[in-house]
Amino acid sequence: MSGHSTYEPKTAFERWLDTRLPIIRFGLDFMEFPTPKNLNYWWTFGAILAFCLATQIITGVILAMHYVANAGLAFGSVEHIMRDVNYGWMIRFIHANGASMFFLAVYIHMFRGIYYGSYKAPREVIWLLGVIIYLLMMATAFMGYVLPWGQMSFWGATVITNIIGSLPIIGGAITTWLWGGFAVDDPTLNRFFSLHYLLPFMIAGVVVLHLWALHVPGNNNPLGVNVKSEKDTIPFHPYYTVKDGFAVAVFVILFATFVFFNPDGLGHADNYIEANPLVTPQHIVPEWYFLPFYAILRAIPNKLMGVLAMFASIGFLFVLPWLDTSKVRSMRYRPSARLFFWIFVVTCIILGFCGAHEPDQQVIPGFGGFQLMDSNINSFVWLSRLGVLGYFGYFLVVMPILGLREVPLPVPESISNPVLAAGSAMPAGATASPEKKG
Ligand code: HEM
Repeated sequence: MSGHSTYEPKTAFERWLDTRLPIIRFGLDFMEFPTPKNLNYWWTFGAILAFCLATQIITGVILAMHYVANAGLAFGSVEHIMRDVNYGWMIRFIHANGASMFFLAVYIHMFRGIYYGSYKAPREVIWLLGVIIYLLMMATAFMGYVLPWGQMSFWGATVITNIIGSLPIIGGAITTWLWGGFAVDDPTLNRFFSLHYLLPFMIAGVVVLHLWALHVPGNNNPLGVNVKSEKDTIPFHPYYTVKDGFAVAVFVILFATFVFFNPDGLGHADNYIEANPLVTPQHIVPEWYFLPFYAILRAIPNKLMGVLAMFASIGFLFVLPWLDTSKVRSMRYRPSARLFFWIFVVTCIILGFCGAHEPDQQVIPGFGGFQLMDSNINSFVWLSRLGVLGYFGYFLVVMPILGLREVPLPVPESISNPVLAAGSAMPAGATASPEKKG
């Protein structure tokens, strides 16, 4: 289903432009794109992500007008933004909380993709471009967190860049090269600022490719069956522009609640202390969206193996479309896959929880809730090891084997004719094989 706009240039100028740069035609094609009529609210997160990216770029550019990328001045310049610049506090809190909101949205978007099998043929490239966006987002967020030059900025950067130092032979040289010296210092801050400014524009470029790749086969949908006829689709505008707009508005309410009522809730108090290379904070923790990976890193006793496991945990996302052997896309028709999916989600949350705690802490039930106590049982290490098994087990065991062995429920013939009676159902998988576009 490729969208061909019914655009007729009306004025002489429009006709002139249309034969030279058919940008109006392109825009209308985009708006009229035939979209499955059954998309639910999980499909609004693409638009929410676009909103997040735009918000981060706009607020970031304004912050950069007042920020000073110098190890002696950076911390003070951020305080200056907070206190002296008109609405500087608001711009900064939008940007800082915006990073969290961006990751919240991207995780929902990715889990949505897994649940409905949106990465399966013919949408593998959409997914792969998504994973590249996700990696760029992680790099951008990591470098951005260093810029305020607080204690957690400095020590977080030190811990993470040291990870590379654990690679045999070349590790040390690469770390020195990254730092631009022999420790995280002014040159490191300068290059991180430069890259933090650059990467969001690269993300925007990859998002264009992501949408381009999306517009070749068109959207997947909650049923996971192919669009069969015009009857299955509606134009993107006004139906999904309105639906996406509503979802963005609801998302903004949550976002604003953080910005205006709990702006430091997701941050770390230590980052209000200026970076000091001579004082190590008691607990060095990354932002919440990196915690599951941090837990994987620390779960394995051997440092190099920990580092490799952490990279592998992200790397597996690249091969996801080929690990999943199921012929049926949507987990709506795969009850056992659905169960494992939710176990996987809980595993990721548990890993995040472990990443937030010191390995030798233990949760002790007591009066008025749970208490954290230091102990020598290393309960969080053991819990994260269990999490690591669950995480890799999902990719290496569940995805390849379950798809071959499970018996899915009957899949509806088309979007317009969902299974109303058992008789109208097609055998499982019959409509969900890699599609031919039509
Ligand atoms: C800046 C970040 C991103 C933006 C702005 C973005 C934008 C979008 C938009 C607008 C759509 C269509 C609407 C929708 O399905 O929600 C979409 C679809 C999709 N995205 Fe993303 N995306 C981003 C990141 C990612 C990431 C990190 C992944 C996965 C690793 C991903 C995977 C997908 C997939 C598989 C689809 C196709 C869904 C379908 O056809 O049902 N995206 N994206």
